[in-house]
Amino acid sequence: MFKKSLIAMAMGGTMAVSAQAGEVEVLHWWTSGGEARSIAVLKEMVEDAGHTWTDFAVAGGGGENAYTVLRSRAVSGNPPAAAQIKGLEIQEWGDLGFLASLDDVADENNWDAVLPSVVADVMKHDGDYVAAPVNVHRVNWMWANPAVFADAGVDIPTNLDELWAAAEELQAAGVTPIAHGGQPWQDATTFESIVLAVGGADFFNDVFVEMDQAALESDTMVEAFEEFRKVNDYIDRGAPGRDWNVATSMVIRGEAAMQFMGDWAKGEFTAANMTPGEDYICAPFPGTADAFTFNIDSLAMFKQRTAANAEAQMTMAELVLSPSFQETFNLNKGSIPARTDLDMGKFDDCALASMETFKSTAASGEGLVPSMAHGMSTTSTIQGAIYDTVTEFFNSDMSAEDGATRLARAVRAAQ
Ligand code: BGC
Repeated sequence: MFKKSLIAMAMGGTMAVSAQAGEVEVLHWWTSGGEARSIAVLKEMVEDAGHTWTDFAVAGGGGENAYTVLRSRAVSGNPPAAAQIKGLEIQEWGDLGFLASLDDVADENNWDAVLPSVVADVMKHDGDYVAAPVNVHRVNWMWANPAVFADAGVDIPTNLDELWAAAEELQAAGVTPIAHGGQPWQDATTFESIVLAVGGADFFNDVFVEMDQAALESDTMVEAFEEFRKVNDYIDRGAPGRDWNVATSMVIRGEAAMQFMGDWAKGEFTAANMTPGEDYICAPFPGTADAFTFNIDSLAMFKQRTAANAEAQMTMAELVLSPSFQETFNLNKGSIPARTDLDMGKFDDCALASMETFKSTAASGEGLVPSMAHGMSTTSTIQGAIYDTVTEFFNSDMSAEDGATRLARAVRAAQ
């Protein structure tokens, strides 16, 4: 594939023109302003390579809607060429025999050498590459409007105690402290950051990777639920059902002080032409500065019926790992490149901080944890059971003790 591109370039072309034009249908849920700008980069590259792009966008942050649509398309024998699926979900589709091997492309382009193993491992099924990683998102971030904090005379919090003290003062100043979207995946996103802050990375692994029953029911988990409950005091009445990017726009407009969200939120600030450090602040979720909750987006490739479409699909897989796609996509998306060998010259301080923590936690083996809320740590069934409990807790007056007991029970039943 890569050689063909070189030949095309040597013959005077400026891009990889394929012998056979095919079509790629791509299922994804990148529909917010920042997300749409990001995926448009891949569409353009695929079209420049002579193929047709059929966009199959299914709105719904976190991807639950997209996964439902994917299942029905696959069951009817008509899956798209590529789908934004990730983490253990890739293994589930691989086990069902739907995914195409990308090993030829991966070998020719040295994926094993350019991808860190924490990324490569997620992309492989039975040792074969079946998905191409587009990025690495960090989930444990907090996004803040510095003017709102300054007006209220409050500092950016660095631990949970400071967070609640800041939220109290912001509220007293008449501001909504926390912009939240009350959807299960967003509740779970905040909850997992609180679990990380309260229990640390080892505890996070015990509960969300090992699913250790004693840890799930422990005092530490009770404390995490108690802390999580406090979020409820500082959100506004409009939170239930709100989309994550609408919550981000509240911070952008100064209607709320902060949001807890992965760095796809940065894509919204970027799309609004805002500068980090000046117009907005990215800070680790309070109490988690030394940890990195990773969420790797990827496009898994489904077996195709025609040779032309298979070729188009492989060209796309190759493009996904190309330095120029990785750079432009991630500048728009808010994430860092999946390849750790790229020049980061064009990236901002948030991305540089993210890359630094990603590399240091990967090297030390301490603090790098897979996101439960974003499908990296467990199966979709267990993840769904956790979502249900966390959301029920958040929207009721369940005690923290009951929260922990029910969580442990729900996980056990889903296993
Ligand atoms: C995905 C991101 C996406 C976010 C909101 C996450 O699960 O990994 O790429 O921007 O959901 O839709």
